Amino acid sequence: MSESQIVIPSLSELQTHRSEKWRGFPHDVLPLPVAEMDFPVAEPIREVLIEMVKTSDLGYLGSIPELGTSFAGFAKRRWNWTLEPAFVRAATDVGVAVVELLRVFTKPGDRVLFSSPIYQNFYTWMRETNVEMVDVPYLIDPASTDGTGWSHDWSGIEAAYKSGVVVHLLCNPHNPLGKVYTHEDLLRIAELAKKHGVIVISDEIHAPLTFEEQPFVPFLSLGENAPEVGITVTAASKGWNIAGLKCAIIVSQSQKMHEKLNELAPAMHYRASLLGAFATVAAFEKGEPWLDQALVILDQNRHLVANLISSRVPSIKYSIPHCSYLAWLDLSNLNLGEDPGAVLIDRAKVAFNSGHIYGELGKSYVRLNFATSPAIITEAIERIARVL
Ligand SMILES: Cc1ncc(COP(=O)(O)O)c(C=O)c1O
Repeated sequence: MSESQIVIPSLSELQTHRSEKWRGFPHDVLPLPVAEMDFPVAEPIREVLIEMVKTSDLGYLGSIPELGTSFAGFAKRRWNWTLEPAFVRAATDVGVAVVELLRVFTKPGDRVLFSSPIYQNFYTWMRETNVEMVDVPYLIDPASTDGTGWSHDWSGIEAAYKSGVVVHLLCNPHNPLGKVYTHEDLLRIAELAKKHGVIVISDEIHAPLTFEEQPFVPFLSLGENAPEVGITVTAASKGWNIAGLKCAIIVSQSQKMHEKLNELAPAMHYRASLLGAFATVAAFEKGEPWLDQALVILDQNRHLVANLISSRVPSIKYSIPHCSYLAWLDLSNLNLGEDPGAVLIDRAKVAFNSGHIYGELGKSYVRLNFATSPAIITEAIERIARVL
């Protein structure tokens, strides 16, 4: 695919899609929830999938050294992160990877730290493994300079570490806040984790979609303490929009951690999909031109959302995110009650994710997915403006 070929399908074409985003709501509701993009798939991924279907190469996933080498190449070019390809493992998806990692490092009742508001499946994963959830919420900080208006509660994090937290689940870059951790933030977490014997599982699935102004820093690239305490879980599924293909990766950075991860259920590898794994290799090896073009569109869209809000519904508060395609909208000035997302589906026929699923602090928010056409984004904001 050349650099100018992301042509976003029309609404009627998108309505034929079978994914959750397009099947989850009645036809008259414009759907902008669920983190998937309405962009056509990158050509190198399309080619490998077509080739595998044509040759009926659809069996189980076996050895795939290409996963490690392709990700190592991408990570080096993109973030100057040098990693050992042999330390990259396949997993079914990020969710399965985190659950299996929690099974390795915790037993039921152990304390696991996270900071809300947070991607809702963090709660699912912790519930599934019966750990005790320790929430140290982000602080709403109007003076924050990172664009999101939210900051870390460092004293809360340190107090939780001291209280016997076993694992810290990190979301970097952050869904739904659109926040990208700084080098200093991550060094501080690694240092504290080392001091208190905490394992850091860093979910970096949104990393390929980071915008330029706040560069993404891979946790394991920090040197010093991070390789000793950290594990990264990531995938090509968000960056290249192939979540339905089911493949993620788990990365470690020290021999000791790599050996510890031999305790992971071996079936996790075979439960990833062959199509997903080779699509992932194609994404990391040949998918950067597409990714760069997608980022140009997403960059325009994040500003379009800002412009539409300030001209049509200025009472909505929105800080432009530093990554990905999720706008975290504060609707508290609209007085739409306990669940503004439900009210907007009902009255405006536009669906976002309701903020309460990300935690108590999210109650007056909705999350809007702007990885779609400017026409659909404009229509969504217009629908809201019309009913308010
Ligand atoms: C932070 C984060 N982690 C994980 C996932 C889901 O990953 P997977 O489908 O590989 O489980 C998402 C999906 O939106 C996400 O935002």
